[in-house]
Amino acid sequence: MKNSPNDSKHNREAWDKVALADDKWFRSCTSEEINRARGGDLRIKLTPTKNLPLEWLHSISKKRVLCLAGGGGQQAPLIAATGAQVTVFDISEAQLARDRAVAERESLALATVIGDMRDLSACEDESFDLIVNPTSVCYCSDVLPIWLECFRILKRGGELIAGMINPINYLFDARQRDAGKLVARHKIPYSDLDLDEEERAELIGAENPLSFGHTLSDLIGGQTDAGFQVTGFFEDRWGDKDKLSDMIPVFLCTKATKP
Ligand SMILES: C[S@@+](CC[C@H](N)C(=O)[O-])C[C@H]1O[C@@H](n2cnc3c(N)ncnc32)[C@H](O)[C@@H]1O
Repeated sequence: MKNSPNDSKHNREAWDKVALADDKWFRSCTSEEINRARGGDLRIKLTPTKNLPLEWLHSISKKRVLCLAGGGGQQAPLIAATGAQVTVFDISEAQLARDRAVAERESLALATVIGDMRDLSACEDESFDLIVNPTSVCYCSDVLPIWLECFRILKRGGELIAGMINPINYLFDARQRDAGKLVARHKIPYSDLDLDEEERAELIGAENPLSFGHTLSDLIGGQTDAGFQVTGFFEDRWGDKDKLSDMIPVFLCTKATKP
């Protein structure tokens, strides 16, 4: 993989392990969900609990769609079931294998591409109508190259829909937060790589992906600086019991249009 920064190798291996672990957050879609999508009822989430508004997915069956960092068999096969022409791009071969498995099970056409989302040179300029990006820029130390690449590969009038984590999620001490206490500790931008080795081993371990908390300037301003117009917005929460998420939504989702 070319141009892969330091966080890529760790996260590629970590996501390969997640793909094999059957975690409740990362299960592939069911045949029932596929049948619903075939009938036009497309329910996909890019953040933990809220489906994308159906009006954001208008005319999707006619579109060329890139599911960016979207491996795992959740969103891409459902979008393909509407008749859209779908490519899934992901850093983890095991995540992509799950998309291929669902596509085979449901007789759907789906292309898979392995790579780092900061380098979309595998995709031609102005070649997609829609990019759907499930929450994942938090696994990259730098987010601005992603927005520039998305802008390049979208057609004029094309849209980027991206789930993201609000930086406030990274402000608090994680051990105290697990105990229900909110103690402000970290600066934003945040990096798991800045924790000392002992704390990183305890909180993340060798197995789990490294995360990065980006500023809102990079998450949203970075899209407008790349040339996008933000045309849709909502927020979401973890859904599980979490002191912070009970008080303020910690996820956001933007729809941005290339004029
Ligand atoms: C939270 S999952 C989101 C996709 C999944 N379908 C879902 O809804 O849960 C994050 C995805 O981002 C991918 N990923 C992480 N870092 C990446 C990178 N630098 N480039 C491309 N994909 C990456 C992971 O392999 C994983 O499939």
